[in-house]
Amino acid sequence: MKRTMSFVKVATAGEVPAGAMKHVEIGETEICVVNVNGTFYAIGDRCGHENARLSRGSLTGTIVTCPMHASQFDLTSGKLMSGPVLELEGLKEMFTGCPEKVKEKVGQMFAGIADEQRLIKTYDMPIYPVKKEGSDILVDPKGTP
Ligand code: FES
Repeated sequence: MKRTMSFVKVATAGEVPAGAMKHVEIGETEICVVNVNGTFYAIGDRCGHENARLSRGSLTGTIVTCPMHASQFDLTSGKLMSGPVLELEGLKEMFTGCPEKVKEKVGQMFAGIADEQRLIKTYDMPIYPVKKEGSDILVDPKGTP
């Protein structure tokens, strides 16, 4: 059975210039619309780790990096490519000069958080069909391309 596409206008091309990511919502579905050198992609905008908005992250080619723990997802497939990164770089140095008891407690707190986060699975992201009609960007929130 062939699925019927149901594209919805989510933005104008001018609102998503090359290299940009834009958060849009279609009903309850949060979507990140991305322009990679004139090609548009649409990927879920709640990270497969802990729901941060990917649209607030960074973009390198077709790889989007989550702003929260740096998980990376491929826009073309939604696949998790790497991450999350759960250790804070430079944490010990941040507390140089603090009393040992403070360093120890803060270290324990962050280690505990990282232990819990290691148990959280990170899922691939949904991707959505997207097309450009004139100056409009349209997304089908119901399906994969
Ligand atoms: S919320 Fe995105 S990597 Fe943790």
